[in-house]
Amino acid sequence: MERGNTLLVVEHDRDVIDQADHIVDLGPGAGERGGEVVFAGPRGELPSCPASATAKYLTGARRVTPRRPRERAGANGRVLTLLGASENNLKEVDLRVPLGKLVAVTGVSGSGKSTLVHDTLFPALARILHDSKGPIGRFREIHGFEQLSAAVLLDQSPIGKSPRSNPITYLKGYDSIRRLFAETATARGLGYGPGHFSFNSAGGRCESCAGSGFQKIEMHFMADLYIRCADCEGKRFKPQALEVRYKGLSIHEVLTLTVEEASLFFDDVPSIVSRLLVLRDVGLGYLRIGQPVNTLSGGEAQRLKIAGHLASKPPRDVLYLMDEPTTGLHFQDVERLLEVLLRLVALGNTVVVIEHNLDVIRAADWVVDLGPEGGDAGGRIVVEGPPAEVARCSDSRTGAFLRAYLEKHPAA
Ligand SMILES: Nc1ncnc2c1ncn2[C@@H]1O[C@H](COP(=O)(O)OP(=O)(O)OP(=O)(O)O)[C@@H](O)[C@H]1O
Ligand SMILES: [Mg+2]
Ligand SMILES: [Zn+2]
Repeated sequence: MERGNTLLVVEHDRDVIDQADHIVDLGPGAGERGGEVVFAGPRGELPSCPASATAKYLTGARRVTPRRPRERAGANGRVLTLLGASENNLKEVDLRVPLGKLVAVTGVSGSGKSTLVHDTLFPALARILHDSKGPIGRFREIHGFEQLSAAVLLDQSPIGKSPRSNPITYLKGYDSIRRLFAETATARGLGYGPGHFSFNSAGGRCESCAGSGFQKIEMHFMADLYIRCADCEGKRFKPQALEVRYKGLSIHEVLTLTVEEASLFFDDVPSIVSRLLVLRDVGLGYLRIGQPVNTLSGGEAQRLKIAGHLASKPPRDVLYLMDEPTTGLHFQDVERLLEVLLRLVALGNTVVVIEHNLDVIRAADWVVDLGPEGGDAGGRIVVEGPPAEVARCSDSRTGAFLRAYLEKHPAA
């Protein structure tokens, strides 16, 4: 910038926002309730903008304070230990994970977080509990796994390649929607059943694109090209199927509703609305319920996987591992996501998150801080304990940031 360049960043990080010269804040809400410039001007003037949710968090008028479920099952000293982890830069790390807790693994980039959690702890548990065959980072011993029913990695990898899978099918809420359409008088007149509103079977779907809304053009020597289906104009169904309306909307129009809109539209159908609320809780309220999962961002895919676990039968004794689940989330969404994670913990599960977000770190029950630096100068546990203890540790970089943060934004 000193050379006359302009730097435009989309950012949620407090420190980056604080360093900006000029701020453009969008909102005021998400999805349909957003889309307006709420504030545009110098950083110093943002706090006096009453309409900006961002401003409230920056000034401390609002804080990320997740409501904690009252019952915290399993918080009784059970522990999982991984001893002598030494893959990549790890220096014989002995990791202790208190079970039934929210555990944050912190440290500067390159300190060894992913190597420890992603490449060693998870594959080791997956081998023992699920007989999986993937490679495992080097370690000496593991104890306490018999207290777990499963280990689940909720990462940012794509959910699938199918353009026919979307948030509402992923949460198994689409069957109810198809049934509602099949029960309408128009559908009965046409002899349509729920299957006619599926994109997986012939009947009501557009056959030119097999219900995907896209047609694939094979390009020699290049990646395949996808163009909108000319027959259904991307609507994925035959004209006849689109004539069927439920509360005034066609199946295509329903699939283009956002999660927020759909939860109002289906507010009288508990089996649908309960799933939509889970999507909203993980910060996906703005997503369209029919958006193909192969087009989701990494952070969105991860949050959809979390929603999938919350929407199904409440799990117990599961160890969840996540790598920076708050990526891309606004303060408000971080708060909701934290509530969801604490809910998983209250059900008797353990959640291990790799996180840089200080609101998450302060909300954790236990913090394992790796470092002190990246690469060869890292790979050790600098400090472990409750957030307050980490904040007191003078050797820990995370500790220093956390201390300053806790001083500036004391608990409500
Ligand atoms: N496959 C590999 N081969 C050799 N070195 C590796 C390999 N994967 C990671 N490393 C090194 O090990 C160290 C720890 O990497 P790791 O990915 O665990 O860091 P991290 O704490 O997860 O960082 P970030 O916050 O950037 O994700 C780094 O110095 C990295 O360069
Ligand atoms: Mg990493
Ligand atoms: Zn088509």
